[in-house]
Amino acid sequence: MSSTNDTSRQPRPSQMGGGGGASSIIILGIESSCDDTSAAVLRDGVLLSNVTASQAVHEAYGGVVPELASRAHQQNIVPVVDQALKRAGVSKDQLSAIAFTRGPGLMGSLLVGVSFAKGLAASLGIPMIDVNHLQGHVLAHFIKETEDDTSAPPFPFLCLLVSGGNSQIVLVRAYNDMQIIGQTIDDAAGEAIDKCSKVMGLGYPGGPIIDRLARQGNPEAYQFAKPAIAGYDYSFSGLKTSFLYNLRDWLQDDPDFIEHHKADLAASLERTIVDILMNKLRRAAKALKINHVAVAGGVSANTGLREAFQEHARRYGWTVYIPKFSYTTDNAAMIGITGYFKYQDKDFCPMEAPAYSRVAL
Ligand code: KG4
Repeated sequence: MSSTNDTSRQPRPSQMGGGGGASSIIILGIESSCDDTSAAVLRDGVLLSNVTASQAVHEAYGGVVPELASRAHQQNIVPVVDQALKRAGVSKDQLSAIAFTRGPGLMGSLLVGVSFAKGLAASLGIPMIDVNHLQGHVLAHFIKETEDDTSAPPFPFLCLLVSGGNSQIVLVRAYNDMQIIGQTIDDAAGEAIDKCSKVMGLGYPGGPIIDRLARQGNPEAYQFAKPAIAGYDYSFSGLKTSFLYNLRDWLQDDPDFIEHHKADLAASLERTIVDILMNKLRRAAKALKINHVAVAGGVSANTGLREAFQEHARRYGWTVYIPKFSYTTDNAAMIGITGYFKYQDKDFCPMEAPAYSRVAL
């Protein structure tokens, strides 16, 4: 985790803790790394509010347009933060710190959240906490909705982090001690799903559409290429090419092939991706003798993947941790909970900390 401590820039103790009560830590989390503008408020790790404005503007383009995303963030950030504070019943001067996504993500999008967090933290005289977006996805499992919520995984656990930009197996030893033991060498799982959906002429993002169609199709109808990669790494570009070339052949025989078979295509694609993901995860869990296994990121909303986790719990004795749908895609609650843990470590960041578009976990 690449946060920087600069003690000379840290606020005086009298400035810390805000007005949140003698022992309360109240964190405002801000997320703006891609196309969701989100703000959340947490008191002592318990979620009080989580407000997200999604950007439908990208649907017409079949993918996120960075310039449009940053413009929409600029429009959304003030009302979203305002709503999050109102719903939490918290005023700005009660905040203990502001946690924000520093990266990875789209630079123009990140800059909106980072600059907003800096301005607000400076005006309130409270610390800023930079959060790695990927760490946030993993720690989404620690968001408490009530004080007695005990659903979080124990350390160590494995987390399959699958999104539009990442496919990783993460060994989580502690809140601040994570190691990527396997990751994609080319496309991410979500990216492959989105691209195959685009090739089929379905909408964007493809994940939820493929998921819906797959429920009505036969997962064994078609076979697509599975990669043979050593270790715990993933690859999805071969599958994408195999899907494309097969489809091209089938369309030559039947120009309406997609329309006639889209449910079977979606189900077979989903099954192939879930098999690829679970095979490596199973091997990693066996080798490391870890049976607490979590899933995180946008693709963790997928029905087939969730069912595969439940199936592995039954067959291999895993205890599985599957996030609520609202914590699968980008959200500020996960940034807030990560900020809460970093606050306890006094792991603050200096005002000049830049956003970063690329960074490892
Ligand atoms: O984590 P996320 O919201 O954004 C980042 O990539 O950071 O993940 C978005 C990805 C997209 O590729 C989207 O198609 C996929 O998650 N996704 C799904 C489902 N819902 C979203 N993939 C499969 N099934 C779903 N139900």
